Amino acid sequence: MSTISTARHGDILIISSNNPPVNALGIAVREGLVAGIEEADRDDAVKAVVIICEGQTFFAGADITEFGKPMQMPMLPMVVDIVENCTKPVVAAIHGTAFGGGLEVALASHYRVAVPNAKLGVPEVKLGLLPGAGGTQRLPRVAGVRKALEMAATGNPIGAKEAYDCGLVDKLIEGDLLQHAVAYAEEVKDSRPLPKSSERDQKLEEARANPGLFDEFRAANARKFRGFDAPEYNVRAVQAAVDKPYAQGVLDERRLFMELMSGTQAKAQQYFFFAERKASKIEGLPEGTSPRDIRKVGVIGAGTMGGGISMNFLSAGIPVTIVEMQQEALDRGTGVMLKNYQATAAKGKMSAEQVGQAMGLLTPTLKLEDLADCDLVIEAVFENMDVKKEIFGKLDGICKPGAILASNTSYLDVDEIAASTSRPRDVVGLHFFSPANVMKLLEVVRGRETAPDVLVTAMQLAKRIKKVAVVAGVTYGFIGNRMLIPRQTQAMQLLLEGATPAQVDKVYTDFGMPMGPFQMADLAGVDIGWHRDPGRVENIRDALCAADRWGQKKSAGFYDYDEKRRPAPSPAVQEIIEQFRVKEGVQPREISDQEIIERTLYTMVNEGAMILEGGFAQRATDIDVVWIYGYGWPVYRGGPMFWADTEGLKKIVEGLRNQQERLGPDFKLSPLLVSKAEAGEKLSKV
Ligand code: 3HC
Repeated sequence: MSTISTARHGDILIISSNNPPVNALGIAVREGLVAGIEEADRDDAVKAVVIICEGQTFFAGADITEFGKPMQMPMLPMVVDIVENCTKPVVAAIHGTAFGGGLEVALASHYRVAVPNAKLGVPEVKLGLLPGAGGTQRLPRVAGVRKALEMAATGNPIGAKEAYDCGLVDKLIEGDLLQHAVAYAEEVKDSRPLPKSSERDQKLEEARANPGLFDEFRAANARKFRGFDAPEYNVRAVQAAVDKPYAQGVLDERRLFMELMSGTQAKAQQYFFFAERKASKIEGLPEGTSPRDIRKVGVIGAGTMGGGISMNFLSAGIPVTIVEMQQEALDRGTGVMLKNYQATAAKGKMSAEQVGQAMGLLTPTLKLEDLADCDLVIEAVFENMDVKKEIFGKLDGICKPGAILASNTSYLDVDEIAASTSRPRDVVGLHFFSPANVMKLLEVVRGRETAPDVLVTAMQLAKRIKKVAVVAGVTYGFIGNRMLIPRQTQAMQLLLEGATPAQVDKVYTDFGMPMGPFQMADLAGVDIGWHRDPGRVENIRDALCAADRWGQKKSAGFYDYDEKRRPAPSPAVQEIIEQFRVKEGVQPREISDQEIIERTLYTMVNEGAMILEGGFAQRATDIDVVWIYGYGWPVYRGGPMFWADTEGLKKIVEGLRNQQERLGPDFKLSPLLVSKAEAGEKLSKV
């Protein structure tokens, strides 16, 4: 069966694409489309054309796997021009997602019809690009400049109804798409002149009269776009549609597209697109392993973590039984969940009815025995091995056979926890990130004995609750938190040697992270893991905790906070640091930003390489997914492993060697990192 086929329906030529999984516009599709349009042009018996796709979606865009390879003719910009210049009316019949190049084909068609649940968008910006086949020039002409700006610069799609309202879709189709699209083509087959998007100027008038709207848009989105190249390029391309004739605008678009394409950000974002999709694939499982059925979930602990975890399942329509030890804590926990839902509803992201539905699926209880009929139980109590083992021992006696027993531990040994049950095959780590109802990452910790179907269930469940899951092995801190350890250790040491919290944090925010190590410590709680003895002050952190500086919750941590939680450098902290310098006989010195990078970011890369070496991550891309979704690593830098490659592994190894003495006696260079650097290979390909 060929990728593109044509068929006649009376005097209508139907060009149909069958290129699973998403009808990406690869070379065969492009050739087929051109051949189809030529057939229509050639044959007097053809009066109009319908372009339609089989399978789950209309063309979801250019074929991203072709990027970076030699270009093959005809290129997409040529194809869309051929479509627009067809001498017969062309109707694009849209279902699924008309994305990127797909929407550009639709825009080049003379008419667009769509089923109501179709989505239309230009997500190129998320790949570090802009719509490069006339999209930035045709979209504002068809949908209006404001809509085009919003769609192109954010990459967010719109639904068919909204597309209809702004003129992007001419007709919404209820019922059989092909049949109605053919009927629509019959209606318009004799209508002339053909409405060409590239010739429409009327919707540009508003922006021509108000050129300030581009700067307003930039200003309104400055925070969201910070650090990214592509949004600004998208704005400029749309602006060109307004300021210049179409023929000039497409040249600008091409130039801007090529500039982005050759940059590191686009490579990073495209790398990440595939990294994210690869993460769900588990190595070494027997083929055809099917998941267990999860209809009811139990959560132990109604604190911040337990509550957030529960909300994920409730929002996905899965009933949750939540257990606490004291009625008061249970009430407080469920109260917070309700408040969080209500806050979401107040923002218009949920209806009051949906809040009621979600909370209606929650069963609060004080009895662990009530978890007997749950298919999955997630323990989310505080980090103490003895407590966890006791709970898992009890669960072993309570839960039905086949139930999955999961721990939300962020550091502890899942194998040891599993050993406190008689069914270690059913035990797995499910490490959610705080706030658990918001953060997309889920580390699925594969124990020594975790059964294949338990893993498959966890990965599938993650999708159901809209998380991105990454498999991690049993190692202290798994992937993400293990890499945090050298970073935090070095950041503290840098304070002692002469840096300030603000200096270190600024290196991170300049890098594109949402916050630096000290801002993060203040947010999470400086007291996490503290021994709770104010009389025992062995390091700067102990001193802060003893001084009641536990972070944002106390309005004091590494920074002072005002009532709006705005941080300011703290003289008290500076004094504590100085006391320690005196105590340890450290003479403070000027610390360069480069040293901060070498000692905190290069060490993280080194730790990531050791995680790979130890087999605690399946692949380097998984580490990058963890850091982007779990810790706000800027996606335009592709994650720590990808970034290491762009920085140059030789430079990283050299930097670490230069710092070796300062990194302390426990620091070890990863042999994998060194060997890759010496061989001139990339780390992100492992
Ligand atoms: N090119 C190549 N492969 C693609 C692709 C594309 N544009 N879009 C998706 N795929 C692949 C995925 O890698 C995945 O492969 P795998 O099964 O081997 O892992 C498979 O198709 C299915 O994708 P998803 O797992 O993402 O499936 P979903 O059903 O969850 O989502 C989708 C479908 C909404 C279409 C989503 O895949 C998506 O958003 N795709 C990207 C769309 C996009 O960015 N389009 C713009 C491309 S750039 C462009 O068009 C440039 C032009 O302006 C010149």
